[in-house]
Amino acid sequence: MFFWEVRSVNQMVIGMIGAGNMADALIKGLLGRHVLPPDAIWATNRSNRERLAGLQARYGIQITPVKPPLLEAAGIIVLAVKPKDTREVLGQITGVVRREQLVISVIAGIPLESLERALRGIPVIRAMPNTSAAVLASATALAAGRHATGEHLRTATRIFEAVGDAVTVREDLLDVVTALSGSGPAYVYRLIEAMSHAGADLGLDGELARRLAVQTLIGAARMLTESAADPGELRRRVTSPGGTTMAALGVLENRGFAEIVREAISRAAERAREMADEFAVPDGQEVRPEV
Ligand SMILES: NC(=O)c1ccc[n+]([C@@H]2O[C@H](COP(=O)([O-])OP(=O)(O)OC[C@H]3O[C@@H](n4cnc5c(N)ncnc54)[C@H](OP(=O)(O)O)[C@@H]3O)[C@@H](O)[C@H]2O)c1
Repeated sequence: MFFWEVRSVNQMVIGMIGAGNMADALIKGLLGRHVLPPDAIWATNRSNRERLAGLQARYGIQITPVKPPLLEAAGIIVLAVKPKDTREVLGQITGVVRREQLVISVIAGIPLESLERALRGIPVIRAMPNTSAAVLASATALAAGRHATGEHLRTATRIFEAVGDAVTVREDLLDVVTALSGSGPAYVYRLIEAMSHAGADLGLDGELARRLAVQTLIGAARMLTESAADPGELRRRVTSPGGTTMAALGVLENRGFAEIVREAISRAAERAREMADEFAVPDGQEVRPEV
């Protein structure tokens, strides 16, 4: 356990507004790494009481169907709702969140400027984690708003480092991060599905094909993290001239593999920007506190 974790046990209370997949993954990670005790984590959602109760039953955290107790208790408020619900949530917390609190938004595509305009002077940090936070292996990028201090950024970094790797980027690059590592696990799952189906089509038992594909992914990921070589070098090492790997890679390249991946990630980044436009708080429009 790190010193910070010991300190945090006494000092930090996190409140999750939104109790879906991302909140679940973060809670699981924070508890799994003993960053916080269950009673230092609060969660609330809009209407799914069963889901909220499920979180409490699984993790022993504090839950509330309404926001005031969470906003009162938490020093750090994590916004983990879908982009389309951003305005509603901002309307519900504006005027209640205090300046000594830190708001961390994991909402894809909603710019700091929109959040800051609504939250008026409250420190805000945007984070783009991925759902591998649930197994302590998220790739997270953070961007700090103009009221967030270096200490706020360090606190947010430590939270997300507890559930994987965390880096800081300029905000204008967060859409690319969203497209690369935020949505990235789905691309890898799709690849594993395709590899498993190919193995099964060619005669392997389906479950066995999946097992081999998954272990291949784990092994390749470990090679990447444990060796100094870059992916291109590792690929060249397993590609003998005239061999099977070269035959397969030839098919992938002929079909434009790299271009397809580039186009997919570029489309996801574009979608993140579109979502920002669709759901952001327009210029000059105030988010009014809900009564
Ligand atoms: N999932 C990922 O891989 C991933 C990766 C990076 C970033 N993100 C971002 O994380 C955010 C959450 O994604 P998710 O997958 O966790 O979504 P999700 O599973 O649909 O969960 C959304 C949660 O928000 C709650 N909610 C909606 N309106 C609310 C309100 N006014 N007050 C309180 N709670 C409210 C919902 O409550 P009810 O169920 O009661 O409606 C639900 O618990 C999204 O913005 C997404 O862009 C997700």
